[in-house]
Amino acid sequence: MSAGAAKLGDRSLFPDLEPRVYAHHAAIAPVSTVLQAAVADALRRYAADGAGAFPEFYAQRQRLRGKLEALIHAEAGSVALTSNTTRGVSDVALSVPWRPGDRVILFKGEFPANVTPWQQAARLYQLELSWHDASDYLSGRDDALQRLDRDLQRGVRIVAVSAVQFQTGLRMPLEEIGRLCRQHGAELFVDAIQGCGAIPLDVQQLGIQYLACGGHKWLMGMEGSGFLYVAPASAQKLVPIVAGWQSHEEAEDFLSRGAGLLRYDKPLKRSALALETSTLSVLGFVALEAGLDLVQHLGVAAISAHLSEYLDRLETILLGRGFRSLRAKDTTARSTILSVLPPQPLRVLDVHRGLAQRGIICGVPDGILRFSPHWPNAFSEVDVVAAALDEIITAQ
Ligand SMILES: Cc1ncc(COP(=O)(O)O)c(C=O)c1O
Repeated sequence: MSAGAAKLGDRSLFPDLEPRVYAHHAAIAPVSTVLQAAVADALRRYAADGAGAFPEFYAQRQRLRGKLEALIHAEAGSVALTSNTTRGVSDVALSVPWRPGDRVILFKGEFPANVTPWQQAARLYQLELSWHDASDYLSGRDDALQRLDRDLQRGVRIVAVSAVQFQTGLRMPLEEIGRLCRQHGAELFVDAIQGCGAIPLDVQQLGIQYLACGGHKWLMGMEGSGFLYVAPASAQKLVPIVAGWQSHEEAEDFLSRGAGLLRYDKPLKRSALALETSTLSVLGFVALEAGLDLVQHLGVAAISAHLSEYLDRLETILLGRGFRSLRAKDTTARSTILSVLPPQPLRVLDVHRGLAQRGIICGVPDGILRFSPHWPNAFSEVDVVAAALDEIITAQ
């Protein structure tokens, strides 16, 4: 099976998937037959050849970096492979040449992956954290942007925000935030794991200097593989706190190019690649490329449009049953996540359990019912959810 077999609304590349409706991609994507075949092939190659297989998968990772750059419209050589989002956030948070008292803007409501590393950096480098509230962007975007503007006027080094809020699915106004950052000399760091693969993202157009992402959600890879973008000008300034043998220029030359190349004084790479440090997960990045190929074959814009219609339909049936939608009214602030709260006396966890018992898998992050379908989800599934909800409501 190849990525070319992927079709919107068709889950035939997921024959092993057991739930009737799998709407939990904001957590972990299920494994496609394309991914299974790619990983099995990599294992066969290493079983047959051992180190002889290394160059092929070294080249595969180089190809993958290029595909990830294309996905986010990044400059060549600006994307490094990482194990997850947090690793990318941490690497940047620890490698910025901070001055004591530097200020970082964080957002309440964010997934902790984009908070903890900054708190850690604040402790280590005596930074000041300035808290804003992501939910303000749902209730009054212009006021929230004005508050951000006022705070930026006080001097800020980095604004760290998610492209899409993991709980509500709110798409943050990155273009406006990026413009304000530029006006006030701040840099923009984006946790893009809830966006990459589902909504279009262009780091250069949005004015993003750093973007961290994991591969196991909308990119359809597996846990343990992700990537980090660092804009070339920002990479020049980073001082990697954790560096390894592959952080150097011409890091591998001594292994195959003859004597005299084993040295410890080669300069560190002046790009995101310095942060890769050493040996990477072969299978993790084979899986990530397989997932990304599926997404790119269909196109992020087409996936986004498919999911917008799916979620419109789903929202209608939920509203009709008294649920409160947390989806933004402004369509440009919507993502591929739909979160709702049930009407009294229904309780979120009971609805979630009732849906799971009927083969419908979604999430409940911090007590909110969250639906996150992806391109294989068919519109007909919405009727399955509607019937299940009617049973749950009647049984109440
Ligand atoms: C916004 C956001 N960031 C990060 C993560 C995960 O971080 P990591 O890739 O480090 O596990 C999640 C969900 O798991 C998330 O929703």
